[in-house]
Amino acid sequence: MTSRRSFITQSALAFTALSASRVLGANEKIRIASIGLGGQGMGNASRMAKVPGVEIAYLCDPDTAALDKAKKVYPQAKTTQDLRKVMEDKDIDAVIVSTGNHWHVLASIWALQAGKDVYVEKPVSHNIWEGRKLVEAARKYNRIVQGGTQQRSDPLQDEIKGFLDAGTIGKIKYVRCNHYSMRATIGKQAEPLAPPSTVNYDLWLGPAKDEPIFRQKFHYDWHWDWNTGNGEMGNWGPHILDDLRNVVFRDKVTLPKRVIAGGGRFAWDDAGETPNTHFAYMDTGDIPVIVDFHNLPRQKGIKAPDVYLRRRTGAFLIIECEGGYYTGSRGGGTAYDAEGKKLHTFKGDGGKTHAANFIAAIRSRKQAELKAEIEAIHYSSAWCHLGNLSYRLGQKYNREQAEAAVKDFQPWNDVIADFHEHLVKNELDAATLDIKMGPMLELDAAKETFIGETATPEALALLTREYRAGYEVPQAV
Ligand SMILES: NC(=O)c1ccc[n+]([C@@H]2O[C@H](COP(=O)([O-])OP(=O)(O)OC[C@H]3O[C@@H](n4cnc5c(N)ncnc54)[C@H](O)[C@@H]3O)[C@@H](O)[C@H]2O)c1
Repeated sequence: MTSRRSFITQSALAFTALSASRVLGANEKIRIASIGLGGQGMGNASRMAKVPGVEIAYLCDPDTAALDKAKKVYPQAKTTQDLRKVMEDKDIDAVIVSTGNHWHVLASIWALQAGKDVYVEKPVSHNIWEGRKLVEAARKYNRIVQGGTQQRSDPLQDEIKGFLDAGTIGKIKYVRCNHYSMRATIGKQAEPLAPPSTVNYDLWLGPAKDEPIFRQKFHYDWHWDWNTGNGEMGNWGPHILDDLRNVVFRDKVTLPKRVIAGGGRFAWDDAGETPNTHFAYMDTGDIPVIVDFHNLPRQKGIKAPDVYLRRRTGAFLIIECEGGYYTGSRGGGTAYDAEGKKLHTFKGDGGKTHAANFIAAIRSRKQAELKAEIEAIHYSSAWCHLGNLSYRLGQKYNREQAEAAVKDFQPWNDVIADFHEHLVKNELDAATLDIKMGPMLELDAAKETFIGETATPEALALLTREYRAGYEVPQAV
């Protein structure tokens, strides 16, 4: 009998043999497989299908209920629960990976080994080590790989860059990346949750650990379990920190030099592990960055998210400059002078041409044409992983120690003050809460690893994961 491991090895070889894939003529149809058919997978398929010359030819999800639903929209498409079938199909030119985060890299690497191009959702990795493996595979097989941070295709980003460069509001002092949204508890059951009978659980789990799940909902809420997700930092974070890396740092800062984060999961007694209140400082050696995420309401009993600088919802990039500031989300933004007078309003399109950009690059075979080429989005995803890593290594929080961790930087004291105010508004007592404060992690950005005193075995272990047998991300891609 063929073991699962040798099947993968054999499949990888077979995939490689196919890698000299079809050379597409300018008007030839591009056949796409949509892997993962939840909310975002269906959205991605629909956006791709609207690009001229694209056919959604294969639908893949371990949940037959998701397949049945998708088949109604794309009746001509083949269906499978097993993504390896997609990899074997030489008529498929490209795949969209919209699974849970734990599958992003392995599914993408298998597709690259099979000679296919890849559109992979954010965060493009579940940890930093595997994100680099995905970049290596993209280079080795010389394929087109686009990350799912669609705002990179929004002309808005270039407009903001132009405005900042014109110097109207002066030099950038620091940036605050906020996301204040409302989420609800995911519950906690006494008995482990049985996956829906329509789900092939082995395929759904893939590289993740097989451990009992105690949340109430099977799909989507995997985000709040470290085994499969990356919390809000890895959910909204990849959008916001990717905007930051593009608009402010112009992709020149790959990873920060130092990162510290704190927070906790408060008010909810549930099966979720990831923080619902999370703040971080990222030292780039250049412009400093503060990150702040809140999932609790503005005030206990009020059904509205927290506020900052008069903007209520969405992902905020707040660029504080010497002569004013810019604040925006993916729908657009506004620049103000130092007195708060509106100077300019920017309108975004939400990145609606991102799918078309991917298809154009598939036809031209030029990686440089991609707006969200995989290496850039690997870095943006890695910033989020770092914010999570410091938190996960955290010890009991102490306000004075936390404030002292970043000296002489008022915005750090501000974010801590905001944190305490937010707890008070939610009628939570900091003294009795399980608040964590992580170490100041130091990085060797080129090697994508920790250095110095914080390069402990625990910290280094979190740069990767233990992969379930048969679903290992390969060391050599
Ligand atoms: N770019 C964006 O704006 C945006 C928006 C929402 C979600 N996302 C990302 O899209 C991804 C999916 O999010 P969602 O909200 O649709 O989650 P979801 O849980 O609703 O859907 C995920 C789907 O993937 C399927 N899946 C799991 N393992 C699979 C496998 N081995 N092969 C094929 N399918 C598999 C699941 O069965 C499920 O149907 C996430 O990574 C999320 O971060 C991006």
